[in-house]
Amino acid sequence: MRTGEYKLNLIREKTFLSHAVVKMVIDAPNVARKRKAGQFIVLMTDEKGERIPLTIVDSDKENGTITIIFQIVGKTTTCLSEMKEGESLYSVLGPLGQPTDIEQFGTVVCIGGGVGIGVVYPITKALKEAGNRVISIIGARTKDILILEDEMAQISDELLIATDDGSYGFHGFVSDVLQKLIDMGEKIDRVVAIGPVPMMRVVCDVTKQYNVKTIVSLNPIMVDATGMCGACRVSVGGCTKFACVDGPEFDGHEVDFDLLTSRLRMYYTQEKEAMENFRCECHD
Ligand SMILES: Cc1cc2nc3c(=O)[nH]c(=O)nc-3n(C[C@H](O)[C@H](O)[C@H](O)COP(=O)(O)OP(=O)(O)OC[C@H]3O[C@@H](n4cnc5c(N)ncnc54)[C@H](O)[C@@H]3O)c2cc1C
Ligand code: FES
Repeated sequence: MRTGEYKLNLIREKTFLSHAVVKMVIDAPNVARKRKAGQFIVLMTDEKGERIPLTIVDSDKENGTITIIFQIVGKTTTCLSEMKEGESLYSVLGPLGQPTDIEQFGTVVCIGGGVGIGVVYPITKALKEAGNRVISIIGARTKDILILEDEMAQISDELLIATDDGSYGFHGFVSDVLQKLIDMGEKIDRVVAIGPVPMMRVVCDVTKQYNVKTIVSLNPIMVDATGMCGACRVSVGGCTKFACVDGPEFDGHEVDFDLLTSRLRMYYTQEKEAMENFRCECHD
């Protein structure tokens, strides 16, 4: 049983998992109580800051905390990475999005690439707890930035690792490892693939040939995260969906990855400017 007071949105723990990936444990008792695998929060670091979506990687109902893992890519994730244990976030909204469909499917392959390993972790855990045989494949560009190896090993029946440069595990992409599994005769009932858009697209290209249902988690830009603004619009099976309320998980064989890629690049100039201004403010 937890002793002591909750301090809303307080950062309890902060750890660098690699030079650009941070894990934080935050006080958010209402989110911790309700959240399910696959859901996310929207947080603001300060009153004037942007709202950014991040997956709830884990939670501790008794202690009233949630865990997030994020990659430092732009202004808000940089600001967040600079906050210290004992400081509080301005707001944490959630849990948001549809939970993952967790059933006993049989053999499930859970694939995580880069920071996507953090996103696939709670889903892998829930699928294992539901009685599935779980084979996990995790990958990164190089060994130094591979995260959550021990944690994924603990919740998987088998863990396979790939690095783009061959510095650890299989030399190649997670999709190559999946293809090898299939070639070796592994009967796969479902695949969950989360990571960079090109990775999810290639995994879907592999599984489509064998008609293996493949779930992907989409990461379009989000603004309100309540289905009102349309910023997170994606096309799935020819229909418009809003990732914040209809997703973020969808059938990967139905996703229009070209549209997703172009919409992710939409604010590239503004994002670059925001980061440059932020750097100037910091160094003035
Ligand atoms: C439902 C959902 C869950 C997410 N969960 C996680 C998570 O658990 N961990 C994590 O690290 N990230 C996650 N993301 C992505 C995260 O929200 C973005 O990286 C973040 O908003 C970037 O904010 P920024 O201000 O630091 O960067 P920005 O200045 O906004 O962007 C910097 C760079 O990152 C790219 N970028 C911006 N937004 C996204 C995005 N949504 N996806 C991919 N690239 C983006 C831009 O194109 C740009 O190149 C999630 C996104 C969604 C929609
Ligand atoms: S973020 Fe506005 S509709 Fe999804």
